[in-house]
Amino acid sequence: MGSLSNKHLVLGVTGGIAAYKSADLARRLRELGAEIRVVMTRAATEFITPLTMQAVSANPVRLHMLDAEAESGMSHIELARWADAVIVAPASANFIAKMAHGRADDLLSTLCLATEAVVALAPAMNQQMWENPATQDNLARVKQNGVRVFGPAQGAQACGETGPGRMLEPTEIAARAAELFSTGALDGRHVLVTAGPTWEALDPVRGITNRSSGKMGYAVAEAALEAGASVVLVSGPTALADPEGVTTVHVRSAQEMLEAVHAQANNIDIFIAVAAVGDYRPETVAPQKIKKHSDTLTIKLVKNPDILASVAALSPAPFTVGFAAETENLEHHARKKLLDKRIDLIVANDVRVGSAGFDSDYNQLLLIDKNGVIELPRARKIRLARALIQRVAGKYHAKSTAQDSRYAHR
Ligand code: CTP
Repeated sequence: MGSLSNKHLVLGVTGGIAAYKSADLARRLRELGAEIRVVMTRAATEFITPLTMQAVSANPVRLHMLDAEAESGMSHIELARWADAVIVAPASANFIAKMAHGRADDLLSTLCLATEAVVALAPAMNQQMWENPATQDNLARVKQNGVRVFGPAQGAQACGETGPGRMLEPTEIAARAAELFSTGALDGRHVLVTAGPTWEALDPVRGITNRSSGKMGYAVAEAALEAGASVVLVSGPTALADPEGVTTVHVRSAQEMLEAVHAQANNIDIFIAVAAVGDYRPETVAPQKIKKHSDTLTIKLVKNPDILASVAALSPAPFTVGFAAETENLEHHARKKLLDKRIDLIVANDVRVGSAGFDSDYNQLLLIDKNGVIELPRARKIRLARALIQRVAGKYHAKSTAQDSRYAHR
């Protein structure tokens, strides 16, 4: 089964007997790694208690638009932005009808209207209601608007009838939820990502490093995995857990990162250098801890190898993507790096104090290549990473196709 690791899911519960299965669904989604926030309609609370849903989701349950307590924590707009996907299970005939007409008369319907995230419905209703042309029209309309529909299943119903309208089982819904994130854009491709800072030792206890948290690089590795690639992540020292399903190689110095990258570089299709590699390292590493014998201490630094440029210089080279962290003249400096390092794409981000960037969960990016600039506005790093991977996949495939047709004409 796929993974939902690091995914933010809103689980919407509407009124129907299948709501008793929503508690199990919350557990299944969490087992796949998702963080869950539950939103219940008033009718849903007649079938299952908010306390049960709070216990299984490990978060407070939201019930009302104007919920004084919850409002301070997360408003419906924040919740709409927070979600990577909204799964409504069970989705009643009434809820589907409301979605088909864009109604927003309670928290869940408002949230579905306000979110950019994918919305998926798991319908559950009596088979006559399911087959009613009005319901089928509403379904066609929501599908046309990009809403995904999971099920329903056939079988015995709580009302004693048999037919279509049973909610899919929670394990099936959880599996479908994980599939929402598998784009297949990089199916069968090999992607290598560097992430985090490097550590350039001065002596056995001290070293030179930088403020990179590794979050963006790890998010890029996860997004590449979601897109179907097999992914190797070469990471400098970070506090992050290894992403599930990604082969993670831990290194400390730029030299170690270079070696780990070149051990893979001949077998990859795409190289994405997100690491904040130290440009310089101490010329010598003291074998013992340096003592403060004098008032000043001079450390001579020598330049580190440029890992990204060295991969871009390979023949044949993979599709290469660099990152440029800048504090001024973002586009100008980034474009210079694109040309100097002879890479395919550079991703620029502003790391001035107070802006998104280092150690934040948010970022904003400019994607710059020979064809122009694309802006990815401020969003969570995992979302930006997905958007980036989608663009990288498009550009990688376009370049491969162009190269293939050039060879064919020789
Ligand atoms: N990079 C690398 N190896 C290095 C230095 C940087 O692979 N030794 C990669 C980074 O992973 C990133 C890009 O190159 O993708 C950053 O370019 P760089 O010119 O090193 O950026 P800065 O260090 O910020 O450069 P400057 O200090 O000149 O602004």
